[in-house]
Amino acid sequence: MQEERREAPIGIFDSGVGGISVLYRIHKELPGEALLYYGDTAHAPYGTRTREEVLGYCNAIVAHFQEDAVKAIVIACNTASAVAAADMRARLRIPVIAMEPALKPASEMRQTGKVLVLATPMTLKLPKFQALYAKYGEGAVPVPCPGLMDLVESQDTRGEHRYLEEIFTLYPPDTLDAVVLGCTHYVFLRPLLHAMLPDSVHVLDGNEGTARQLRRVLAQKDLLSQREEGSIRLETSGDASTVIPQMRRLLSQLAAQSP
Ligand code: DGL
Repeated sequence: MQEERREAPIGIFDSGVGGISVLYRIHKELPGEALLYYGDTAHAPYGTRTREEVLGYCNAIVAHFQEDAVKAIVIACNTASAVAAADMRARLRIPVIAMEPALKPASEMRQTGKVLVLATPMTLKLPKFQALYAKYGEGAVPVPCPGLMDLVESQDTRGEHRYLEEIFTLYPPDTLDAVVLGCTHYVFLRPLLHAMLPDSVHVLDGNEGTARQLRRVLAQKDLLSQREEGSIRLETSGDASTVIPQMRRLLSQLAAQSP
């Protein structure tokens, strides 16, 4: 029975393609696992909706994952984590791994400059982030970024550049110690950010930490797969003929950036 559980898939989801950056890290960390990724493109963006709406979408995705008898769920979305993680943990018997903006490690790197926390309006206003900010927020500036995930979804590089330029006009790069990518979509902005920021500004995301946390939890519960080679299955609530190829392209892009 336990042997069978170990080989069950892991469900990973986001409102769209942002969580592909988390999926990539997880696949690197746990190459033997069967990974099932669900991008809820039909309901994106989550970050400008109501809490109730997002909770409803998350519940529907959990029900979908249960059809595949997943052994764990990773919420590869800061917004959905802030809305639904506590609720999911309370009612599910499988491990639920959630995300939060990497403010704690950023606060440790801070010297005299500011730490910008880029995230969706919802992530920044919910209690999960408020508690994190109360603890590690000295010198940190939360910057709500409505519309930025949409630019990443539509691969509008010029729009992304303009959006970030506006932010860095308000907060000049030479006044910054770190930029926290508090939305999994923004991880795809790394190359652009590196071109716009001096090397002294740290750019942080929570992806590696999330992948390591998943490994720890699976190991604790004796749920690590014994397979040598795992698999990746991609699904979307949007138009699969365009979204799935886009997901594959993004995976290859990440592999080329950090093989
Ligand atoms: N990728 C998501 C996050 O990490 C959310 C984007 C959205 O749907 O607004 O917050």
